Amino acid sequence: MKGLVLCGGRGTRLRPLTYTIAKQLIPVANRPILSYVFDHLAAANIREVGVIISPETGPAVQEFLGDGARWNAKVSYIVQKEPLGLAHAVKIARDFLGDEPFVMYLGDNLLQDGIVSALKRFTEENVDALIMLKPVQNPSAFGVAVLSEQGEVIRLVEKPRIPPSNLALVGVYLFSPKIHPVIETLRPSWRNELEITDAIQTLIEKGARVKPVIVDGWWLDTGKKDDLLDANHIVLKTYCTRNITGVVDNSEVVDNVSVAPDARIVNSKILGPTVIGAGALIENSTVGPYASIGAECTIRNSRIEGSVVLEKSTIIGVNRITRSLIGRQVKVQANPKKEHDLRLLLSDSSEVEL
Ligand code: TTP
Repeated sequence: MKGLVLCGGRGTRLRPLTYTIAKQLIPVANRPILSYVFDHLAAANIREVGVIISPETGPAVQEFLGDGARWNAKVSYIVQKEPLGLAHAVKIARDFLGDEPFVMYLGDNLLQDGIVSALKRFTEENVDALIMLKPVQNPSAFGVAVLSEQGEVIRLVEKPRIPPSNLALVGVYLFSPKIHPVIETLRPSWRNELEITDAIQTLIEKGARVKPVIVDGWWLDTGKKDDLLDANHIVLKTYCTRNITGVVDNSEVVDNVSVAPDARIVNSKILGPTVIGAGALIENSTVGPYASIGAECTIRNSRIEGSVVLEKSTIIGVNRITRSLIGRQVKVQANPKKEHDLRLLLSDSSEVEL
């Protein structure tokens, strides 16, 4: 069994962060999303992993994953010149995948329970495709599956205007090599992509064995700001433990808070679950709950909760920041003269709510 992790794409919905950071490397609870994906592949004993990268963000993904030794895996990189669809990614990985079954994992998806039980089912039931499904409230935003009364997959529809069911396709798929000849016959969709839903639909029509699994635990697709903040919330709630290695001076640290080495908490209150990255300084501030503060950030005379702040950013005199996603080396500062006018320096596609 091989792994295929998709780290290409445009990431338009997460601009401006994705102008400079690969979507899959944006941190949730101070760890890049991609590291959770690799944890799950390692837990399922998948040792040979192909990673689809784009020319723009590929080098950063390569730098982060390296040769995969951290996960006891051997990583091969496959460059996708343009994001021409999930099935296109499988097509260009054909040589890497050979005739082995494989798990395709979207590099911006998080699954609470990983893939071990899905893999077991795929192998035991000897199926050609195993798709994972989750009931959602907004099925129009996803690929959607229609099941028969017996629970067989009848039909898949990509982002339907009028959804035929509420079962969204989770971004993890298991395939036998039978998917390859089907992908060879696909034509691009209206959005000029080779759609994996079309490939699976064709498999069904050819009588191949396509099985669904309904996912019980949480599933997070981190493609948009609010999804990413929800992911941060749920990952902190699930995994954050109390682990204080930095300096805590005249401060109150409540519940599950992780303070990395060299971080300093001075005259402040930290409410868990919250993570504070290495070398960060929190002074005269209240941070959390549900805050992820990156390495070497400075937060002074401020209050922040329910937010993700990437490394080396500074927040001074701001009361209070909620549900915010702040990039690297950003400065957010109260106007020292207490004037009411705003002074902004924002990059393309930035968003400010006042
Ligand atoms: P999407 O989130 O569907 O696409 P995107 O990353 O281009 O984002 P946006 O819609 O905001 O522009 O992609 C899901 C995952 O699959 C993501 O990790 C990127 C990856 N991907 C590829 O590697 N190649 C592709 O051709 C596509 C479409 C996506």
